[in-house]
Amino acid sequence: MAKELIRLVDCCMAFDGEAVLDHINLYFNDSEFLTLLGPSGCGKTTTLRIIGGFLTPTSGEVLFDGVRMNDVPPHLRQVNTVFQRYALFPHLNVFENVAFGLRIGKTVMEEVKGKQVRRKEKLPEEEIRQRVLEMLEIVSLKGFENRRVSELSGGQQQRVAIARALVNRPKVLLLDEPLAALDLRLRKDMQSELKRIQQQMGITFIYVTHDQEEALAMSDTIVVMDQGKIQQIGTPEDIYNEPKNAFVADFIGESNILDGVMHEDYVVEFFNRKFKCLDKGFQPMEPVDVVIRPEDVDIVPVEKGQLRGTVTAVTFKGVHYDTIVDFKGFKWLIQTTDYHEVGKEIGIVLNPDDIHIMHKSQYSGMFGDYSSYSEEYDEINDPTYVEEDEDTEGRGDEE
Ligand SMILES: Nc1ncnc2c1ncn2[C@@H]1O[C@H](COP(=O)(O)OP(=O)(O)OP(=O)(O)O)[C@@H](O)[C@H]1O
Ligand SMILES: [Mg+2]
Repeated sequence: MAKELIRLVDCCMAFDGEAVLDHINLYFNDSEFLTLLGPSGCGKTTTLRIIGGFLTPTSGEVLFDGVRMNDVPPHLRQVNTVFQRYALFPHLNVFENVAFGLRIGKTVMEEVKGKQVRRKEKLPEEEIRQRVLEMLEIVSLKGFENRRVSELSGGQQQRVAIARALVNRPKVLLLDEPLAALDLRLRKDMQSELKRIQQQMGITFIYVTHDQEEALAMSDTIVVMDQGKIQQIGTPEDIYNEPKNAFVADFIGESNILDGVMHEDYVVEFFNRKFKCLDKGFQPMEPVDVVIRPEDVDIVPVEKGQLRGTVTAVTFKGVHYDTIVDFKGFKWLIQTTDYHEVGKEIGIVLNPDDIHIMHKSQYSGMFGDYSSYSEEYDEINDPTYVEEDEDTEGRGDEE
């Protein structure tokens, strides 16, 4: 059984009377990789700072092992943080950057004559050496001890920051968009590196990102946030396959979201047609949001289709074509490895497990229609449309 380490109970946070976090209830298990995912300003960093002890919630409780920690300062929590700007010491070498946390010593509380007092516990030099070298090995920087940090690449500096945060063996590591400054390739490498380190050390990682792919790739648990509220908590598979509302469906991957009516268990109607689905437990004739993922739609000849539409735009994406199809004025995104030219009439087939039903929410009607996406491509596909730069031979950024 997973052991619970930290719990936020009804945590609210307001700055100058403005609510930023709205009743956050969340727990974090031992050795778990949990990601807070959401758009800019949704309250991810604020949540992390409350856990780290840099902020005290306006109301609610922060519990570590069931003990209230609201007012306990950061250095007395068994938590370390890697910030987006990792602030290494440029005048120290790699070894000393990592050793820093160990040299300042650990603060311990001790009872002296019936009173709780703080004491710094210093480690012997040989132990510091061993622990730093062990950490450098874990982050694949063995042999870099004497390098100046200014001579390292972005990814190497990031790993020094992680080694520094892990060297005093926190139970929990908080990471706030730690890879945001790296280029795509390096970010992908570091994602698997971080996951490996987390598993190898058996530490709880609480990771903040606004990048859904990163969250899906790394996490055991994803917490999707918007406007200071938790929208959904689940495994990457849960969140992707069973989004709770239109916001989650749209934020995690691409989704076509249509209005539908649930007739009875396993039967939904949209576009005036009934479809079999796998969902149940809705009210009879309940209006619902229907999610259809672009990669789940099968394109077939018109006469074999359950629905028929017209291709209005095609964009080559490497592995597949993003194909925009107009169904009676509502445009869908369909991803297919076959090329279907603009203007062609096609049919589509939806299997029951391609259809996901969600309750209506405040987000209904806001997402999931690819009309505007299509317009951009309509313009490009329009032979009378004149691009600003007509020089197709050029490299774009040349004068
Ligand atoms: N110290 C502060 N004083 C006033 N408002 C703040 C403060 N810190 C954060 N906020 C506000 O709280 C909201 C949530 O901020 P937060 O930094 O938690 O967002 P975030 O999800 O981390 O966003 P990003 O992805 O841009 O980092 C924002 O509207 C922000 O402006
Ligand atoms: Mg932030």
